[in-house]
Amino acid sequence: METIDWNVLWKESRQKRTWQGKTREDWDQRSAGFARRNTASHYTQEFLRRLTLRPEMTVLDMGCGPGTLAIPLAHQVKRVTAVDFSSEMLNHLAERSAQEGITNIESINGAWEDDWRALGIGTYDLVIASRSLAVDDLRGALTKLNAAAKELVIIGDRVGHGPFDPALFHAVGREFVPGPDYIYTINILYQMGIHARLDFIEIQEPKCFESRQAAIDSCAWMLHQLTPEEQPMVDRYFDRILIANADGSFSMTSQVQTQWAVISFSPVPTTTHKLVANL
Ligand SMILES: C[S@@+](CC[C@H](N)C(=O)[O-])C[C@H]1O[C@@H](n2cnc3c(N)ncnc32)[C@H](O)[C@@H]1O
Repeated sequence: METIDWNVLWKESRQKRTWQGKTREDWDQRSAGFARRNTASHYTQEFLRRLTLRPEMTVLDMGCGPGTLAIPLAHQVKRVTAVDFSSEMLNHLAERSAQEGITNIESINGAWEDDWRALGIGTYDLVIASRSLAVDDLRGALTKLNAAAKELVIIGDRVGHGPFDPALFHAVGREFVPGPDYIYTINILYQMGIHARLDFIEIQEPKCFESRQAAIDSCAWMLHQLTPEEQPMVDRYFDRILIANADGSFSMTSQVQTQWAVISFSPVPTTTHKLVANL
């Protein structure tokens, strides 16, 4: 254990994954569908249920997306700083804030990799990073979260295949290697001298879509670009897993269960972080 550098293992595992990492532009494109599907989802409710909030609290939401958590949080705390590198995600956040009369969210267009001080990111009672830790330098990102938090950091992290459907990859003849998950986060934190708490959210809600195409679109991001040979295989796969409901909608009989890890920790002074070189 002492000779393992979990941040190096994280980077190596990311290089072995068989799905394409998402760019800023990919997230811009996904923002509308993501916003539609993730408002008031089971995940959102369960994540929020795990937070102890006070009206005078300040919150940082890193990789906030369309405001999945920032919007409900803004109703319960003093101020939310919502950061994302996708301007389309931030546009959805602004639209939803206006619709709900929310005036206490400050949004910042910024990335994990940026200089947070230059972005104006300070310190907050509560720091959240929900399903957004898509970074090459995980230890660097965790160090930033730790430095920004006064009371608590809480992270929503992938478990195994995460939101991906391995069966869809197999249906088109592609290998599926998921890349690293929460266990790397836990171990990097451990190597930083942080003993994190761990909990899990199991997604049990049935997936329902207004049309067959909407169901297919909701999964398109997993495969990135389809070849002409793969397209009919995708169609056959969805013929198998979609059930037409009497009202014209479609339910997806998912073969795999998605789970999310919820990792939380109280910040520690950076001087106590163990250096891997000193292990
Ligand atoms: C799966 S969404 C999660 C959104 C929201 N936190 C939630 O749980 O619903 C991931 C978000 O992280 C953002 N993101 C991904 N990589 C990022 C980076 N390097 N810097 C900043 N934001 C990033 C994406 O733009 C996207 O909005």
